[in-house]
Amino acid sequence: MNIPDIISSEEQLDTFLAEPYPETVKMMRNLKGDIMILGVAGKMGPSLARLARNATNEAGIDRSIFGVSRFSNSGVQDQLESWGVETIQCDLANYGELAALPDAENVIFMAGKKFGSVGSEPETWLLNTLVPGYVAKRFQKSRIVVFSTGCVYDLVSRETGGSKESDPPGPIGEYANSCLGRERIFEYLSGQSNTPGLLFRLNYAIDLRYGVLLDIAQSVYENREIDITVDDVNIIWQGDANNRALLSLAHTSVPPAVLNVTGPEIISVTKVAREFGRIFNKDVRLSGTPINRSYLSNASQSIRLFGEPRISVDRMVHWTAEWIRCGGYVYGKPTMFQITDGNYLQ
Ligand SMILES: NC(=O)c1ccc[n+]([C@@H]2O[C@H](COP(=O)([O-])OP(=O)(O)OC[C@H]3O[C@@H](n4cnc5c(N)ncnc54)[C@H](OP(=O)(O)O)[C@@H]3O)[C@@H](O)[C@H]2O)c1
Repeated sequence: MNIPDIISSEEQLDTFLAEPYPETVKMMRNLKGDIMILGVAGKMGPSLARLARNATNEAGIDRSIFGVSRFSNSGVQDQLESWGVETIQCDLANYGELAALPDAENVIFMAGKKFGSVGSEPETWLLNTLVPGYVAKRFQKSRIVVFSTGCVYDLVSRETGGSKESDPPGPIGEYANSCLGRERIFEYLSGQSNTPGLLFRLNYAIDLRYGVLLDIAQSVYENREIDITVDDVNIIWQGDANNRALLSLAHTSVPPAVLNVTGPEIISVTKVAREFGRIFNKDVRLSGTPINRSYLSNASQSIRLFGEPRISVDRMVHWTAEWIRCGGYVYGKPTMFQITDGNYLQ
């Protein structure tokens, strides 16, 4: 893997995000069957699907990579097809459409609803619990990696080192509760049908077009105040997260395995903001008092399985700063990492 000094275009970013680890290529050589990514059209899915395609090609294996979504945003479907991903338009909430999907031995489930869950609670529960139930039933003969979130835990202090997989869940608010619901439904149906699964509890992926670092950097660059009530976060480069998602296909079990996926260190928002201030030569305006309670996950188990993430925090900070300086494209989707009451309004 050639790690670039800077990333200056979306094309370069997309190409780099889709570079497989050597061990991902090796795993793809041993994995049997096609891969289907459900909910592929979001922030992570396209790069995951392309990574799966590239890793399979490098492994010299003949396999289909299916990308399934409603494709609400135009352009994503064509882009995926151009990368060799076979796209299928499907609303997973419609069991008839789901039932008509082709079989696949390997499924990665990424669909869900977080932003705007306040005000559309019934839809949030539909997407985060009923749809997972449909998927677990439809693909009961597959192995399934289920994207979940560190929000299923309670908030913890920095001194704990982050929640471990063995800690009891303590979800706050409807979104987090519905995510625990997603896990429980998969767990139950995995036991009923002997379907191997893995619950992939992710904390904050970093792409340059969205993510916690972009949120902080943009505030510094635009002289906006940064609320440091939540001063501690975990992050991981999206390419590292996606390689880990594919590698997780080899670690599914009955009952489903649980895995925290994030970087090894706890990042201070204050320190990162000051670093962006230094790079941009800007004053940093902070507000609020840290409460020393936030969503932090202990990633030791995934690091034991897959090694340290390849991309360091320093490098992500540097790339993000350069991305902003050269006017790189951003999605305009803030992570809202400061939310502690579980109310994701937008
Ligand atoms: N990104 C992160 O840092 C992060 C952190 C923690 C957890 N996660 C979880 O990881 C998963 C993937 O992350 P993400 O950031 O890529 O999420 P995302 O941007 O919300 O993407 C999920 C995609 O699923 C599709 N989808 C939703 N409902 C669907 C339905 N009924 N039928 C078919 N497709 C549907 C949507 O595309 P269409 O509208 O085109 O169907 C949506 O873009 C999510 O479950 C997320 O909550 C992500």
